[in-house]
Amino acid sequence: MYILGIESSCDDTAAAVLKNDTVVANVLTSQDAVHTKFGGVVPELASRKHLESIHPVVEKALENARIKLTDVDLIAVTRGPGLLGSLLVGFSYAKALAHVTRIPLVGVDHMAGHILSIFLSANRPRFPYIALIVSGGTSAIYLAESFTSFTCLGRTRDDAAGEAFDKVAKLLGLPYPGGPHVSKKAGSGDPSAIKFPRSWLEDDSLDFSFSGLKTAVLNYVNKVKRQGQDLNLENICASFQEAVVDVLVSKTIFAARQYNTPRIVIGGGVSANGRLRESFTHRCDLEDLEFFAPDLNFCTDNGAMIGFAGRHVYEQSGKMELDLDAYSRSPL
Ligand code: KG4
Repeated sequence: MYILGIESSCDDTAAAVLKNDTVVANVLTSQDAVHTKFGGVVPELASRKHLESIHPVVEKALENARIKLTDVDLIAVTRGPGLLGSLLVGFSYAKALAHVTRIPLVGVDHMAGHILSIFLSANRPRFPYIALIVSGGTSAIYLAESFTSFTCLGRTRDDAAGEAFDKVAKLLGLPYPGGPHVSKKAGSGDPSAIKFPRSWLEDDSLDFSFSGLKTAVLNYVNKVKRQGQDLNLENICASFQEAVVDVLVSKTIFAARQYNTPRIVIGGGVSANGRLRESFTHRCDLEDLEFFAPDLNFCTDNGAMIGFAGRHVYEQSGKMELDLDAYSRSPL
Protein backbone atom coordinates (compact mmCIF):
# COMPACT_ATOMS: atom_id res chain seq x y z
CA MET A 1 0.00 0.00 0.00
CA TYR A 2 1.40 3.43 -0.98
CA ILE A 3 0.36 6.35 1.23
CA LEU A 4 0.96 9.99 0.32
CA GLY A 5 1.22 12.16 3.48
CA ILE A 6 0.79 15.95 3.19
CA GLU A 7 1.47 18.48 5.96
CA SER A 8 1.07 22.29 5.90
CA SER A 9 -0.15 23.23 9.40
CA CYS A 10 2.43 25.92 10.19
CA ASP A 11 5.49 27.06 8.26
CA ASP A 12 6.81 23.85 6.66
CA THR A 13 5.37 22.44 3.45
CA ALA A 14 5.97 18.70 3.61
CA ALA A 15 5.04 15.56 1.69
CA ALA A 16 6.13 11.97 2.09
CA VAL A 17 5.42 8.58 0.56
CA LEU A 18 5.18 5.48 2.72
CA LYS A 19 5.08 1.91 1.47
CA ASN A 20 3.01 0.39 4.26
CA ASP A 21 4.93 1.53 7.36
CA THR A 22 8.22 2.33 5.63
CA VAL A 23 9.13 5.85 4.53
CA VAL A 24 10.30 5.78 0.89
CA ALA A 25 10.35 9.56 0.32
CA ASN A 26 10.29 12.51 2.70
CA VAL A 27 10.40 16.05 1.27
CA LEU A 28 10.16 19.35 3.13
CA THR A 29 10.56 23.02 2.30
CA SER A 30 11.20 25.22 5.28
CA GLN A 31 10.03 28.84 5.37
CA ASP A 32 12.55 29.87 8.04
CA ALA A 33 14.20 32.38 5.68
CA VAL A 34 10.84 34.14 5.14
CA HIS A 35 9.94 34.45 8.82
CA THR A 36 13.33 34.97 10.43
CA LYS A 37 13.34 38.77 10.05
CA PHE A 38 10.03 38.94 11.95
CA GLY A 39 11.26 36.68 14.78
CA GLY A 40 8.25 34.37 14.36
CA VAL A 41 5.80 32.96 11.83
CA VAL A 42 3.71 35.55 9.93
CA PRO A 43 0.49 33.62 9.09
CA GLU A 44 -0.33 35.46 5.85
CA LEU A 45 3.18 34.96 4.48
CA ALA A 46 3.11 31.31 5.55
CA SER A 47 -0.04 30.53 3.54
CA ARG A 48 1.30 32.33 0.47
CA LYS A 49 4.52 30.30 0.65
CA HIS A 50 2.56 27.06 1.05
CA LEU A 51 0.65 27.92 -2.13
CA GLU A 52 3.92 28.19 -4.03
CA SER A 53 5.45 25.05 -2.55
CA ILE A 54 2.68 22.50 -2.16
CA HIS A 55 2.59 21.16 -5.74
CA PRO A 56 6.39 20.97 -6.27
CA VAL A 57 6.84 19.31 -2.85
CA VAL A 58 4.25 16.61 -3.59
CA GLU A 59 5.69 16.06 -7.09
CA LYS A 60 9.18 15.72 -5.62
CA ALA A 61 8.00 13.19 -3.03
CA LEU A 62 6.40 11.05 -5.74
CA GLU A 63 9.53 11.37 -7.91
CA ASN A 64 11.82 10.39 -5.01
CA ALA A 65 9.59 7.39 -4.28
CA ARG A 66 9.74 6.49 -8.00
CA ILE A 67 5.98 6.21 -8.26
CA LYS A 68 3.18 8.03 -10.08
CA LEU A 69 0.14 9.60 -8.44
CA THR A 70 -1.97 6.77 -9.85
CA ASP A 71 0.08 4.28 -7.79
CA VAL A 72 -1.02 5.96 -4.54
CA ASP A 73 -3.62 3.98 -2.55
CA LEU A 74 -4.36 6.55 0.16
CA ILE A 75 -3.83 10.30 0.63
CA ALA A 76 -3.45 11.50 4.23
CA VAL A 77 -3.46 15.22 5.01
CA THR A 78 -3.21 17.29 8.18
CA ARG A 79 -6.71 18.55 9.03
CA GLY A 80 -5.67 20.52 12.16
CA PRO A 81 -4.67 22.01 14.54
CA GLY A 82 -2.53 24.84 13.21
CA LEU A 83 -2.77 28.13 11.35
CA LEU A 84 -6.02 27.92 9.42
CA GLY A 85 -4.68 29.72 6.34
CA SER A 86 -1.71 27.33 6.18
CA LEU A 87 -3.80 24.22 6.85
CA LEU A 88 -6.28 25.13 4.13
CA VAL A 89 -3.58 25.08 1.43
CA GLY A 90 -2.56 21.45 2.06
CA PHE A 91 -6.10 20.37 2.94
CA SER A 92 -7.72 21.86 -0.18
CA TYR A 93 -4.90 20.58 -2.39
CA ALA A 94 -5.33 17.04 -1.00
CA LYS A 95 -9.12 17.20 -1.40
CA ALA A 96 -8.72 18.29 -5.03
CA LEU A 97 -6.26 15.44 -5.70
CA ALA A 98 -8.62 12.94 -4.10
CA HIS A 99 -11.63 14.28 -6.01
CA VAL A 100 -9.91 14.12 -9.39
CA THR A 101 -8.15 10.77 -8.92
CA ARG A 102 -10.79 9.02 -6.72
CA ILE A 103 -7.98 8.01 -4.35
CA PRO A 104 -9.39 7.76 -0.79
CA LEU A 105 -8.49 10.67 1.50
CA VAL A 106 -8.19 10.84 5.29
CA GLY A 107 -7.78 13.93 7.48
CA VAL A 108 -5.20 13.48 10.23
CA ASP A 109 -4.80 15.34 13.50
CA HIS A 110 -1.33 16.93 13.61
CA MET A 111 -0.90 15.91 17.27
CA ALA A 112 -1.64 12.27 16.41
CA GLY A 113 1.12 12.53 13.81
CA HIS A 114 3.63 13.70 16.42
CA ILE A 115 2.46 11.08 18.96
CA LEU A 116 3.08 8.32 16.36
CA SER A 117 6.21 9.78 14.71
CA ILE A 118 8.31 7.44 16.88
CA PHE A 119 7.16 4.56 14.63
CA LEU A 120 9.16 6.08 11.76
CA SER A 121 12.37 5.27 13.64
CA ALA A 122 13.97 1.84 14.13
CA ASN A 123 13.44 1.64 17.90
CA ARG A 124 9.64 1.42 18.27
CA PRO A 125 7.66 1.25 21.51
CA ARG A 126 4.76 -1.00 22.48
CA PHE A 127 1.46 0.46 23.71
CA PRO A 128 0.58 1.95 26.11
CA TYR A 129 3.02 4.84 26.40
CA ILE A 130 3.13 8.39 27.71
CA ALA A 131 3.86 10.88 24.89
CA LEU A 132 5.30 14.31 25.54
CA ILE A 133 4.67 16.46 22.45
CA VAL A 134 6.58 19.72 22.51
CA SER A 135 6.60 22.04 19.51
CA GLY A 136 6.31 25.70 18.62
CA GLY A 137 2.52 25.55 18.70
CA THR A 138 1.84 23.24 21.64
CA SER A 139 3.14 21.35 24.65
CA ALA A 140 1.06 18.46 25.91
CA ILE A 141 1.24 15.06 27.58
CA TYR A 142 -0.84 12.17 26.18
CA LEU A 143 -1.59 8.60 27.13
CA ALA A 144 -1.34 6.64 23.87
CA GLU A 145 -3.16 3.27 24.08
CA SER A 146 -3.26 2.29 20.39
CA PHE A 147 -2.59 3.79 16.96
CA THR A 148 -5.87 5.70 17.20
CA SER A 149 -6.54 6.13 20.93
CA PHE A 150 -4.98 9.12 22.69
CA THR A 151 -6.01 10.87 25.90
CA CYS A 152 -4.65 14.31 26.71
CA LEU A 153 -3.46 14.37 30.34
CA GLY A 154 -2.17 17.94 30.41
CA ARG A 155 -1.27 20.82 28.14
CA THR A 156 0.27 24.27 28.28
CA ARG A 157 -1.89 27.02 29.76
CA ASP A 158 0.04 29.73 27.90
CA ASP A 159 3.21 29.52 25.78
CA ALA A 160 4.32 26.24 24.19
CA ALA A 161 7.85 25.09 25.05
CA GLY A 162 9.09 25.83 21.52
CA GLU A 163 7.42 29.24 21.63
CA ALA A 164 9.32 29.98 24.86
CA PHE A 165 12.60 29.00 23.14
CA ASP A 166 11.70 31.22 20.16
CA LYS A 167 10.71 34.22 22.32
CA VAL A 168 13.79 33.97 24.52
CA ALA A 169 15.95 33.71 21.39
CA LYS A 170 14.30 36.84 20.01
CA LEU A 171 14.94 38.86 23.16
CA LEU A 172 18.56 37.70 23.14
CA GLY A 173 18.95 38.74 19.49
CA LEU A 174 19.26 35.14 18.19
CA PRO A 175 17.65 34.09 14.85
CA TYR A 176 14.28 32.35 14.34
CA PRO A 177 13.52 29.53 14.97
CA GLY A 178 15.25 30.05 18.28
CA GLY A 179 15.35 26.51 19.71
CA PRO A 180 18.46 25.25 17.89
CA HIS A 181 20.31 28.57 18.49
CA VAL A 182 19.51 28.68 22.22
CA SER A 183 20.46 25.03 22.51
CA LYS A 184 23.80 25.64 20.75
CA LYS A 185 24.72 28.56 23.02
CA ALA A 186 23.56 26.56 26.06
CA GLY A 187 26.12 23.90 25.14
CA SER A 188 28.95 26.11 26.37
CA GLY A 189 27.09 27.69 29.31
CA ASP A 190 26.53 26.78 32.95
CA PRO A 191 22.96 25.53 33.54
CA SER A 192 23.12 26.43 37.23
CA ALA A 193 24.47 29.98 36.71
CA ILE A 194 21.07 31.71 36.97
CA LYS A 195 18.17 30.42 39.09
CA PHE A 196 15.23 30.81 36.71
CA PRO A 197 11.82 29.76 38.11
CA ARG A 198 10.15 26.41 37.41
CA SER A 199 6.37 26.56 37.09
CA TRP A 200 4.98 23.36 38.65
CA LEU A 201 1.37 24.62 38.99
CA GLU A 202 -0.90 22.60 41.34
CA ASP A 203 0.55 19.56 43.12
CA ASP A 204 -0.60 16.82 40.73
CA SER A 205 -1.14 18.98 37.63
CA LEU A 206 0.21 17.73 34.30
CA ASP A 207 -0.35 21.14 32.70
CA PHE A 208 2.53 23.43 31.76
CA SER A 209 3.12 27.16 31.92
CA PHE A 210 6.17 28.79 30.31
CA SER A 211 5.22 32.46 30.03
CA GLY A 212 6.49 33.28 33.55
CA LEU A 213 9.88 31.77 32.72
CA LYS A 214 10.09 33.84 29.54
CA THR A 215 9.29 36.99 31.58
CA ALA A 216 11.92 36.02 34.17
CA VAL A 217 14.54 35.86 31.40
CA LEU A 218 13.39 39.28 30.11
CA ASN A 219 13.58 40.80 33.61
CA TYR A 220 17.03 39.31 34.16
CA VAL A 221 18.30 40.68 30.81
CA ASN A 222 16.90 44.16 31.58
CA LYS A 223 18.47 44.13 35.06
CA VAL A 224 21.93 43.20 33.74
CA LYS A 225 21.67 45.87 31.03
CA ARG A 226 20.59 48.52 33.58
CA GLN A 227 23.66 47.67 35.64
CA GLY A 228 25.77 48.29 32.53
CA GLN A 229 27.15 44.74 32.56
CA ASP A 230 27.67 42.37 29.62
CA LEU A 231 25.18 39.58 29.08
CA ASN A 232 26.57 36.07 29.28
CA LEU A 233 24.37 34.57 26.56
CA GLU A 234 25.74 31.07 27.10
CA ASN A 235 24.80 31.04 30.79
CA ILE A 236 21.37 32.59 30.14
CA CYS A 237 20.59 30.00 27.45
CA ALA A 238 21.87 27.09 29.54
CA SER A 239 19.93 28.18 32.65
CA PHE A 240 16.74 28.85 30.68
CA GLN A 241 17.00 25.52 28.84
CA GLU A 242 17.57 23.69 32.13
CA ALA A 243 14.40 25.22 33.61
CA VAL A 244 12.34 24.07 30.61
CA VAL A 245 13.89 20.59 30.55
CA ASP A 246 13.49 20.11 34.30
CA VAL A 247 9.73 20.76 34.15
CA LEU A 248 9.14 18.74 30.96
CA VAL A 249 11.03 15.68 32.20
CA SER A 250 9.65 15.74 35.77
CA LYS A 251 6.02 16.12 34.70
CA THR A 252 6.28 13.41 32.02
CA ILE A 253 7.82 10.94 34.48
CA PHE A 254 5.11 11.87 37.00
CA ALA A 255 2.48 11.08 34.33
CA ALA A 256 4.10 7.69 33.66
CA ARG A 257 3.91 6.90 37.40
CA GLN A 258 0.34 8.21 37.78
CA TYR A 259 -0.89 6.12 34.84
CA ASN A 260 1.30 3.12 35.63
CA THR A 261 2.83 3.22 32.17
CA PRO A 262 6.40 1.95 31.84
CA ARG A 263 7.46 3.81 28.70
CA ILE A 264 7.87 7.41 27.56
CA VAL A 265 7.98 8.76 23.99
CA ILE A 266 8.77 12.31 22.93
CA GLY A 267 7.90 14.18 19.73
CA GLY A 268 7.62 17.66 18.16
CA GLY A 269 10.33 20.16 17.27
CA VAL A 270 11.66 20.60 20.82
CA SER A 271 12.20 16.83 21.10
CA ALA A 272 15.30 17.43 18.94
CA ASN A 273 16.86 19.20 21.93
CA GLY A 274 20.00 17.38 23.05
CA ARG A 275 19.75 18.31 26.73
CA LEU A 276 16.10 17.17 26.85
CA ARG A 277 17.07 13.78 25.39
CA GLU A 278 20.05 13.46 27.73
CA SER A 279 17.96 14.29 30.79
CA PHE A 280 15.17 11.86 29.83
CA THR A 281 17.71 9.09 29.16
CA HIS A 282 19.33 9.62 32.54
CA ARG A 283 16.16 9.95 34.62
CA CYS A 284 14.25 7.15 32.87
CA ASP A 285 17.25 4.92 33.58
CA LEU A 286 17.05 5.77 37.29
CA GLU A 287 13.26 5.27 37.33
CA ASP A 288 13.35 2.02 35.33
CA LEU A 289 11.26 3.47 32.49
CA GLU A 290 11.86 2.84 28.78
CA PHE A 291 12.57 6.00 26.78
CA PHE A 292 12.05 6.51 23.03
CA ALA A 293 13.01 9.56 20.94
CA PRO A 294 12.37 9.88 17.18
CA ASP A 295 15.13 10.35 14.60
CA LEU A 296 15.94 14.05 14.30
CA ASN A 297 14.31 14.48 10.87
CA PHE A 298 10.99 13.22 12.29
CA CYS A 299 10.93 15.58 15.31
CA THR A 300 9.86 18.69 13.42
CA ASP A 301 6.79 18.77 11.18
CA ASN A 302 6.89 16.22 8.36
CA GLY A 303 4.58 14.44 5.93
CA ALA A 304 5.73 10.94 6.92
CA MET A 305 4.09 11.07 10.37
CA ILE A 306 0.83 12.20 8.73
CA GLY A 307 1.01 9.32 6.24
CA PHE A 308 1.72 6.82 9.04
CA ALA A 309 -1.10 8.08 11.28
CA GLY A 310 -3.42 8.36 8.24
CA ARG A 311 -3.14 4.68 7.43
CA HIS A 312 -4.42 3.81 10.91
CA VAL A 313 -7.24 6.37 10.70
CA TYR A 314 -8.26 4.77 7.38
CA GLU A 315 -8.16 1.24 8.80
CA GLN A 316 -10.35 2.32 11.70
CA SER A 317 -12.81 4.75 10.12
CA GLY A 318 -12.48 4.53 6.31
CA LYS A 319 -12.14 7.49 4.00
CA MET A 320 -13.12 11.06 4.84
CA GLU A 321 -16.00 12.83 3.11
CA LEU A 322 -14.70 15.67 0.93
CA ASP A 323 -17.06 18.29 2.38
CA LEU A 324 -15.36 18.30 5.81
CA ASP A 325 -13.38 21.36 6.93
CA ALA A 326 -9.96 21.90 8.49
CA TYR A 327 -9.84 22.97 12.16
CA SER A 328 -7.46 25.26 14.05
CA ARG A 329 -7.90 23.65 17.53
CA SER A 330 -7.28 19.97 18.19
CA PRO A 331 -10.15 17.87 19.55
CA LEU A 332 -7.45 15.59 21.05
O1 KG4 B 1 7.16 20.69 15.55
P1 KG4 B 1 7.72 21.92 14.93
O2 KG4 B 1 8.53 21.76 13.68
O3 KG4 B 1 6.62 22.94 14.49
C1 KG4 B 1 5.51 23.28 15.16
O4 KG4 B 1 5.61 24.23 15.96
O5 KG4 B 1 4.47 22.63 14.93
O6 KG4 B 1 8.54 22.67 16.07
C2 KG4 B 1 9.23 23.86 15.86
C3 KG4 B 1 9.69 24.33 17.22
C4 KG4 B 1 10.27 25.74 17.19
O7 KG4 B 1 9.70 26.46 18.26
C5 KG4 B 1 11.77 25.51 17.41
O8 KG4 B 1 12.42 26.59 18.04
C6 KG4 B 1 11.76 24.27 18.27
O9 KG4 B 1 10.72 23.48 17.73
N1 KG4 B 1 13.04 23.53 18.20
C7 KG4 B 1 13.86 23.36 19.26
C8 KG4 B 1 15.01 22.67 18.79
N2 KG4 B 1 14.83 22.42 17.46
C9 KG4 B 1 13.62 22.97 17.12
N3 KG4 B 1 13.74 23.75 20.54
C10 KG4 B 1 14.74 23.45 21.39
N4 KG4 B 1 15.86 22.80 21.02
C11 KG4 B 1 16.03 22.38 19.74
N5 KG4 B 1 17.15 21.74 19.39
